[in-house]
Amino acid sequence: MTSAKIYYDSDADLGLLMGKTIVFLGFGNQGAAQAQNLRDTGIHNEQIIVANRTDAYAEDAKSKGFNVEHDFGKAAEVADVVFILIPDQVQPRVFNEQFAPKLKANATIVVASGYNVFFKLLKFKPTQDVVMVAPRMIGSSVRSLYVKGTGFPCFVSVDQDGTGNGLPMALALSRGIGATKTGAIASSAREETAMDLFAEQALWPNIIMIFREAFSVLREAGCSDEALCYEMWMSKEPAEIFEAAADEGFITQLKHHSTVSQFGQLSGAFKLDGVEMRKHFKHILHKQILNGKFCEEFSKIETELDKEGPENPLNELYRRCEEETELGQAEKRVRSRLAAASGSS
Ligand code: NAI
Repeated sequence: MTSAKIYYDSDADLGLLMGKTIVFLGFGNQGAAQAQNLRDTGIHNEQIIVANRTDAYAEDAKSKGFNVEHDFGKAAEVADVVFILIPDQVQPRVFNEQFAPKLKANATIVVASGYNVFFKLLKFKPTQDVVMVAPRMIGSSVRSLYVKGTGFPCFVSVDQDGTGNGLPMALALSRGIGATKTGAIASSAREETAMDLFAEQALWPNIIMIFREAFSVLREAGCSDEALCYEMWMSKEPAEIFEAAADEGFITQLKHHSTVSQFGQLSGAFKLDGVEMRKHFKHILHKQILNGKFCEEFSKIETELDKEGPENPLNELYRRCEEETELGQAEKRVRSRLAAASGSS
């Protein structure tokens, strides 16, 4: 059994942020939420700079009263702390070329995802601190839960302790954005990356496959597309099950289901031994994720993701899933039928 240390507000000293210049590189989902939280915690607006290219995000930051700097080199020169909050796939290009060369030798660099740190895609000086403060929430919830006065779940780690002061700084910054209110879990870039990519590349692909195959089997047995879509996800029953699992317990939530359902689910789960699945999962974790194979392959196609139409590999995957599977085709028909019906009523 392994249990992690959990840090609370009382472990963090906000005084460490006094007089520091804190730069937010990016004002999107996480950047907007974290910068506002930090300011509302009491960090002076003059200490905060939003470094952003000229776009709608920069306008949003200005409208919220933040000082916006479009020249990343200038922002880097004055930064004591920089939160890297632009999309993961553009971080190496933007940070390494425009930010890193001008950054102070003892700066604290904060990431919200372990990916680029674990795969060593960002250039840091050995004297700098590299810390991860990774909310387990979308940006809008990071903000709304802070405003409500409750916290949000978050991972915190020090992945390079260049100054020897990495942990106290990581905790002060976590507290500043509201992440130690309900407890920030000690983690690492490796752990965060492994779990994140595993969910994305092993867990959810299997769930998509299970739904796709179940749909086809039940359809072949005479079930209608309409009934299947509602039975399987459009009723929102699966969403309610996961919500109850989070609130009450992964297994305990089953007690809300009928006795027939409880018996079917629990006995059915024991009939599946999981041996092959475990082998498959281990393969994905070790031979695709942790060994850097996925990262290498993704880096090769990353620039193609900005393209329009079928040249963008993501668009092509969407097209195949939506147009070449029975589930995708059926859902499209059901949804257009529902839209037509609601339009005519
Ligand atoms: P986002 O997609 O909302 O980022 C938008 C920001 O990036 C804007 O400020 C935009 O101007 C800037 N940007 C985009 N492309 C750029 C480019 N080519 N050059 C310069 N600036 C560019 O990013 P998001 O979703 O907030 O993610 C930031 C980090 O937070 C990532 O590391 C992500 O993994 C992590 N994270 C995100 C969560 C979420 O709620 N989306 C949850 C937890 C962590």
